Order: sequence, then structure tokens, then C-alpha cells
Amino acid sequence: MGLEKFVIEGGRPLKGEVTVSGSKNAALPILAATILAEGPCDIGGVPVLRDVDVLARILGELGVKIERGATGRVAAQVVSEDKSFAPYELVSMMRASFCVLGPLLAKRGYAKVSLPGGCAIGDRPVDLHLKGLRALGADIKIEHGYVIAKADKLRGTNIYLGGPSGSSVLGTGNVMMAAVLAEGTTIIEHAACEPEVVDLANFLIAMGASIDGAGSHRIKIRGVRRLEGCEYNVIPDRIEAATFLMAAAATGGEVIVRNIEPTHLEAVIDKFREAGLGFNRNCKTVAMSGKVRPKEVELTTLPYPGFPTDLQAPMMALMALGQGATVFTDLIYPERLHHVAELKRMGARVIRVNNTCVVIGVDKLQGAPVMASDLRAGAALVIAALCAEGETHLRRIYHIDRGYENFEGRLLSLGAKIRREPDEAPEKPPVV
Ligand code: EPU
Repeated sequence: MGLEKFVIEGGRPLKGEVTVSGSKNAALPILAATILAEGPCDIGGVPVLRDVDVLARILGELGVKIERGATGRVAAQVVSEDKSFAPYELVSMMRASFCVLGPLLAKRGYAKVSLPGGCAIGDRPVDLHLKGLRALGADIKIEHGYVIAKADKLRGTNIYLGGPSGSSVLGTGNVMMAAVLAEGTTIIEHAACEPEVVDLANFLIAMGASIDGAGSHRIKIRGVRRLEGCEYNVIPDRIEAATFLMAAAATGGEVIVRNIEPTHLEAVIDKFREAGLGFNRNCKTVAMSGKVRPKEVELTTLPYPGFPTDLQAPMMALMALGQGATVFTDLIYPERLHHVAELKRMGARVIRVNNTCVVIGVDKLQGAPVMASDLRAGAALVIAALCAEGETHLRRIYHIDRGYENFEGRLLSLGAKIRREPDEAPEKPPVV
């Protein structure tokens, strides 16, 4: 299939209700964890996304049969343990696939998995994943771009997983998935606390693992001999939920977001409050009313429960039309700022110094041809385009298809004017 673009006509406030899909970043490691199961797994709330399809292909190569059922359910069952090889061609399409390493090693004693390499948001090292697996006793070599890991037996131990930017979400997940079948007890110190890590832990527990402390910086795992299949439902996607709330606020609309877990979004809701936005929070819904322009705030991305890096770009699009000057600093991915230049092309006023941006709110944005550099940058540009005067042609929307299920369909149902078209413009090599 050729490239596609979104054509968005701005200036229509979003109105109505939208239901959040299951979390992409919870579903991916959970699907990888099915490698560990002796029986069939039945998983609900798996979003229909390109990233899930890529992981399903990789799992297929690894002998896990994945079948999509109705309404977000996925059946996964190991049918062969012959191949433990995840090739570069697939892993480089999606970094999260690196988290097949821990389960392969624990269950099959051997794994050859391509190093994922960097991406548009930065270098994205995997040293913490490897440090944790080595501490469990794995013999790990890097050869020709591949991680080759072997272990006759993994042994529980104490592992400190803090890195230069704090904890690692997938690093914690990878090590946890290996430790569940290790002999003895593993303690992960400086573990990531993200809800997606808790969801993975709960899935492993449903399979028979013994895990305490997920959601804190100290996770204790007592190894068990085997894990069974199970039935499980993935948590709602907190990033998608907040993206819809930000789009509602930015367009001056009125939107009720359903299937939301507001406690997963405390830092974001706190910024909404500080910005003076009109929202109403209930148990499983948040209603946003964008009657006022947001006031300036100061915002630094941090590991959970801090403000998520994945919402830095969408929030910047919202504040581009705010009052005053909002200061953004991304401490997790200091290079995750490619959307800045594109927002500026739409009329945003942004001053950038290293990983800090000062966004000075303007009265209006203008539609323009722009390009998504990654998933969340793409979401930010959609928000900006929905507010802008005139038409925006947003290219490289394959990034958005990685992480927002039927994004344009759901925006259409909220009254947006957005359509998907073939992108006829040739892809050019970057201008240097
Ligand atoms: N880091 C290291 N060494 C490692 C691993 C990470 O130094 O071995 C650093 C990273 O460079 C970064 C920080 O630690 O500065 C946090 O990275 P983390 O490992 O937590 O990121 P990740 O697990 O690879 C997940 C999400 C990302 C999200 C980050 C941070 C998935 C599939 N991906 O990535 O989501 O930005 O956590 O919250 O769960 C997205 O959905 O758009 C996305 C990029």
C-alpha cells in the first residue's frame, strides 16, 4: 500500500462522546509474555493498530499463533518452540518487539533478537534490559547487530535498573518476564511504576506468576516452574484518552471521554486544572469543555507518576493556542521535539533551547502542509490542524496508525472534518 495523508479542515469544535481503546503500550509486552504460557491466552482490549500487527508477525515467526477475534479480543497460543530468532527487518519496524527477549530466554533458554536501533525520538538504548538479564545469569553477546542470549537456568537476584533518565518501562517489563521463571527470588530496584508495567505484572500473575510491588520502584518476583494460559483484559490507553481531551480543549469543544482511568492521568489532570480548563472527572469518564483558552503552565516530562513524555507534543499543540508562555522540558527524550518546527509552520510561536521550549500562545494557527515524525508528534499536528484556519495536509500518517486506533473515524464522529487520501507527493531524501 502506498503512503497516505490526512487532509484536515480546521475550525470545528469537537462535540460528542468517544470511547478509549485498550492501551497499546500495555498490550505489546502482554502479547510478548504469551511466549511464557503453557496453554492458550485470551486477551481483551487489544487495540487494532499497526504496532500490534507487527508484533503478531514477530510472534508468529516465534511459534506463537495469534488470532484476532471480535471486539478487540486476541487468542494467543504457543504452537512451536523451534525458532527463537527475531530478525532486524521486523524488530526495526517497532522497538517494543525487543521485549520478546526476556520471555524467550526464560522459556527456551536461547534468543537471538535484533538490536532495535534508534528512532526519531532519540537513541533509545537497551543497556538496562541487558544489564537485568545478565544479572539473572544470562550469557549475552552482541554480534552483527544482534543480541544473542543464552541461559541454562536463570537465577533470581537483586537488580538495580535505574538509568540516566530514571526507570525504563520496557526494561522493567523484559526483566520481569525473565524473572518469573527464574529459580529463587528477584528484586528489581528502581523499577518503572507506569500503569502498563502494573498491567503486565497482573497478566503474569493471572498466568500463575508470583509478583509483589508492581507500581512501586521495588518489584519482588518469586520464580515459579511454569505459567499457564489465562484470560485477561488490557487497561484503557491513558495516552489516547488524554489526546482526545486535549483535542477537545484545543478546539473549544465539549467531549466526554469514556473508558478512561483518571487515576492514571493525575499529572495531566493537574496541568489541566492549573491551565484553568473546564473539565469534569468521574470514575470512568472525563468530560472536557474547551470554553476557555488555557493559561500558561510549566511542564517537565518525568517517569510515572510525572507528566508523560508521550503527551508532551499533544500538550504543546494545545498550549500553542493558550494564553501566555508555557515552558516545556522533556527530560525523558530530550530530542523528541521534531513537531516544533512543524507547529511553527502552522503559525505557532516556539522558542527552543536544547530540550526546553517556550511556547507563546497565539490567537490562531493556519493550515499548512506538515509531516509527522513520530506517533505523538503526529497526534500533536492533528490537534493543531483541527484548530487551524484552512486546510492542513499531514503526511507520514503511518506513524499515527501505529498507535491510535481508527483515529480519523473517531474524530469524524466528534464532528471533525478529516479524510485520508493517498499521498501522491514523492518521498524525498532529507535536505541537509
Ligand atoms: N533508557 C536507557 N537505557 C535503557 C532503556 C531506556 O537509558 O536500557 C532511557 C531512555 O533513553 C529514556 C528513558 O530511559 O531516556 C526511558 O525509556 P524507557 O525504556 O522507559 O522507554 P521504552 O520502554 O522504550 C516506553 C513506551 C514509549 C514511552 C516510554 C517512556 C512502549 C512500547 N513504549 O518506551 O512510548 O515514550 O516508555 O514513557 O511502551 C509511544 O507510545 O509513543 C512511545 C514512544
